[in-house]
Amino acid sequence: MQQLTILPERCTRCGRCQRVCPVKLFSVDPLRATVPRENAGEACIACGHCVAACPTGAIQLNGVRADTLESANGPLPGFDEIRRLVVRRRSVRLYQQRVVPRAEIERILDAVRWSPTAVNNQQVSWTVVMQPDRVKEIAGQVVDFVRLKGDRNGLVKAWDNGFDAVMRGAPHLVVAHGPASLPWSKTDCVIATTLFDTLARAAGLGTCWAGYLLWAAAEHRPIAEGLGIPDDHVLHGALMLGYPLAAFLRVPTRNPLAATWLE
Ligand SMILES: Cc1cc2nc3c(=O)[nH]c(=O)nc-3n(C[C@H](O)[C@H](O)[C@H](O)COP(=O)(O)O)c2cc1C
Ligand code: SF4
Ligand code: SF4
Repeated sequence: MQQLTILPERCTRCGRCQRVCPVKLFSVDPLRATVPRENAGEACIACGHCVAACPTGAIQLNGVRADTLESANGPLPGFDEIRRLVVRRRSVRLYQQRVVPRAEIERILDAVRWSPTAVNNQQVSWTVVMQPDRVKEIAGQVVDFVRLKGDRNGLVKAWDNGFDAVMRGAPHLVVAHGPASLPWSKTDCVIATTLFDTLARAAGLGTCWAGYLLWAAAEHRPIAEGLGIPDDHVLHGALMLGYPLAAFLRVPTRNPLAATWLE
């Protein structure tokens, strides 16, 4: 249940709130200040579109005054800048052994709160493994699981020879998880993890999806339990994290764009 308030003295009846609201929760009348429709608070998904679009800051969502919000005015980084970030992101599999300060990881996670989620549920939770020894231990648990399944891609053999192909010696691990009951949880977690991945690159960090961990955790619950993931949550995103050891000097090619244009 959301709380929607419109300050009548500020409302110019422009109707923008109604136009942008995904569920059309406003009654706009040229003769009086706009008001939320009956039971609007129940249907509202708290996306904040109305608050963001109102030219006079007349709308308060859950008691937050519009003039206390971060401004969305001013120029955004240009397309070329963002594209550079996207094409220069690489899966990092060689890490320095120095730890990343928690505040550095936290500022990325904080920004990722703005990634889209189905019906704005915002139910992506994170577990961050800060201790390099703990990351290694988790890699060992994954190897034990793969050992039982039959060695894949020489993962177990490599481990037995002292090479960690699960976590690649990354000092940290970042895991996204969400409620098993939410049908879109996997998509939401994957989107958020991907955004983390990109922002980490912008922050000078290296990441790589920990696919073996995701596979093992999906089939063997003790791995999620070992990470302290709540019983009713499922792990959907996992990234190795640390400072990259090697610089990448070129952008390799990708497959040509595969797009069908229905015109
Ligand atoms: C998996 C997923 C499915 C979504 N499906 C719809 C949809 O069918 N219709 C729609 O209007 N918005 C859809 N959205 C958008 C969300 O409602 C939106 O991300 C959320 O309200 C937060 O608003 P924002 O993206 O503007 O920050 C979807 C988002 C995600 C991540
Ligand atoms: S966008 Fe703001 S000013 Fe315009 S009708 Fe809605 S509440 Fe009133
Ligand atoms: S927060 Fe989103 S859903 Fe709620 S009233 Fe505003 S625009 Fe509509």
